[in-house]
Amino acid sequence: MDELQLSRVRAFAPATVANVACGFDIFGFAVDSPGDEATVYVDASVPAGEARIASVKGDGGRLPVEVSRNTAGVAVLALLEALKAADRPCRFGLSIELEKGMPLGSGLGSSAASAAAAVFAANRLLGEPFAEERLVAFAAEGERAACGSAHADNAGPALLGGFVLVRAYEPLDLVRIPVPTELWCALVHPHAEVSTKEARDALPAQYPRATLVAQSGNSAGLVAGLFASDYGLIGRSLVDLVAEPWRARLIPRYAQVKEAALVSGALGAGISGSGPSVFALVRGRDTAERCTQAMKAAVESGGLGCDARVSRIMGTGARVLTEE
Ligand code: HSE
Repeated sequence: MDELQLSRVRAFAPATVANVACGFDIFGFAVDSPGDEATVYVDASVPAGEARIASVKGDGGRLPVEVSRNTAGVAVLALLEALKAADRPCRFGLSIELEKGMPLGSGLGSSAASAAAAVFAANRLLGEPFAEERLVAFAAEGERAACGSAHADNAGPALLGGFVLVRAYEPLDLVRIPVPTELWCALVHPHAEVSTKEARDALPAQYPRATLVAQSGNSAGLVAGLFASDYGLIGRSLVDLVAEPWRARLIPRYAQVKEAALVSGALGAGISGSGPSVFALVRGRDTAERCTQAMKAAVESGGLGCDARVSRIMGTGARVLTEE
């Protein structure tokens, strides 16, 4: 890595819906928008093989700018560390500009989108030394910095796009799952915040055997339903026995929002990531629009503001916006 073809890369990574009801820490999919942008550039004022955060915009001044505490910074440091470990140390210092396009603590994979965008831009800048799958492991280190756990169910789809199964963590094994063309997502973000760390701390350390059996059945059922375009099976499988029973109380009007989705024709609904966003899987765009409006109304009737959108499930992952 003596010469670089590029000096500056700006990349985008999308919001993601993690867990998808029956796949705690193992399922996630990319949505079309919103997302975060990161620009990574060669900076002669930064020592070779190191990185710094030059600026963060759109976070209201809340995110750490210390590189080792910022999810985007941590992900890029993990990439630089891996280069060093492979005896190919980076001979350049890197600066990162982060532009948040989505709210913090929203359940939309905000920290993963920042990490994914930054690590994708850095990898591109350095001549793509790593495959996208490997970048997921670096972005997951960003998640560890954000909430203490290197889960990859947001980082995976934020980088790869589409619906991703994290089959295993040690080592990371990601599987892209095809999605029926008529499957859409209805998504609402109530204007509240849930800390992922607190939402994880709210969960039991152990689960009964019956829960394990039921959750395995549903997660296998969802994958089978997605492969077979069996909408009934997809709907029956969207049951969350691992997180929802303990997290529902953290989410304003969760029961009403979920009910509104189901009454409006959703196949199933659940908490997006650690919340407070709520997603529904829906057959057909028109039904998705109807569900979204009903879910939004259910949030707003409690007096809270709410963003709402429909999205495809097979959204694109991280991508370069500009490079020079
Ligand atoms: N799987 C994670 C969780 C996603 O539910 O805690 C949130 O980042």
